[in-house]
Amino acid sequence: SGMFTYDPGFVATASCRSAVTYIDGDEGVLLYRGYPIEQLAKHSSFLETSYLLMNGDLPDKAQFAKFEHEVTHHTMMHEAFKSFLHGFRHDAHPMAMLCGMVGSLAAFYHDDLDLEDPEQRRLAAIRLLAKVPTIAAACYRHSIGWPIRYPRNNLEYVDRFLHMMFEVPSGPLELKPVAARALDLLFILHADHEQNASTSTVRLVGSTGANPYACVAAGVAALWGPAHGGANEAVLKMLDEIGRPEDVSKAVARAKDKESGFRLMGFGHRVYKNFDPRATIIREMCHQVLEELGVDDPLLEVAMRLEEAALKDDYFVQRKLYPNVDFYSGIIYKALGIPTEMFTVMFAIARTAGWVSHWLEQQTDPEAKIGRPRQIYTGAASRDYVDLAKR
Ligand code: CMC
Repeated sequence: SGMFTYDPGFVATASCRSAVTYIDGDEGVLLYRGYPIEQLAKHSSFLETSYLLMNGDLPDKAQFAKFEHEVTHHTMMHEAFKSFLHGFRHDAHPMAMLCGMVGSLAAFYHDDLDLEDPEQRRLAAIRLLAKVPTIAAACYRHSIGWPIRYPRNNLEYVDRFLHMMFEVPSGPLELKPVAARALDLLFILHADHEQNASTSTVRLVGSTGANPYACVAAGVAALWGPAHGGANEAVLKMLDEIGRPEDVSKAVARAKDKESGFRLMGFGHRVYKNFDPRATIIREMCHQVLEELGVDDPLLEVAMRLEEAALKDDYFVQRKLYPNVDFYSGIIYKALGIPTEMFTVMFAIARTAGWVSHWLEQQTDPEAKIGRPRQIYTGAASRDYVDLAKR
């Protein structure tokens, strides 16, 4: 029984060395492989950003063409997935379905998977990036009782996903360019965030040598919670509940009251104590999307008032609580016609790029070992068993 550093929630423990993503929480800086998130948001695409995260550098034209070709040609699901999917009740939460379906990929790609082979590891990462959107869209269509749409490989990543989500046999899908652009941007901003709870989960599972699809399924599970990726869904529910701009101050008062058990969803971050650079970009896109799509959503007004009220309030100022990435993302998803239950699934599609990048990095890290935290024991001292008859 040794003494260990007690660090619940790992606020002061680095669990690995990583070259993927850099965050300076005091300055509001986020870099993927050295590139500022603002520049990637403006100039890159989600697919290119995924290549960057996975490989360390931006691709040249030939590298990108090969990558895009590979991701495009691994988008299909095995037909057996359909019967698996149809086993879920229609009202199953899409995150529950996603978790199960991604985990089941481990059953399809298992026996011939040699984790010592870099090419096979790379292929597993590509498959995940390619198939998660297909699975996600299938979960959505199952939940509303629509037949599954197969991926249209003549389309680009984000367009393909939107088609799988919304296309109906009766006619072509009319997509405003801003829809694909906004979704691509949200995917870029959500693609990675160093050792967050879900990525750390993927690494912990990965540290045991487990199947990569199972690792990512564990990441999906960790993402689901409202303190993490589930916050985007929780934000929209909260804004809906508040309902009117006039009622914002009541919500702020409730969030300050610890007895209420209520927190402002989409506010605060473990690492960002100044502002979340992703929130700044999303806020701007949010206004643009609503304008270009001609959507008049009263919840945007509620959100803006709420942000304003909280940023003026001592409670939030002292605790350095600012809107995070998820505060405005839900309003964009909603404007794109994506239902609330799917918000965290959208986050999962994007974060798959980060999860596989960290998993790949871990597999070649000479210092990596099985993740095995210690504890400070608080239970009973050694005592003798008493027979049931004498208890
Ligand atoms: N509303 C009201 N009070 C809050 C909030 C909030 N959203 N967030 C933190 N606080 C208070 C908290 O009560 C505590 O007060 P005190 O010092 O008086 O006890 C103080 O601020 C510090 O909070 P903490 O819980 O110790 O901070 P943490 O680093 O453990 O938690 C967090 C970070 C993101 C889980 C938390 O801020 C939170 O629950 N936010 C709401 C959920 C949310 O939006 N999550 C998405 C995070 S960003 C997307 C992602 O990465 O998944």
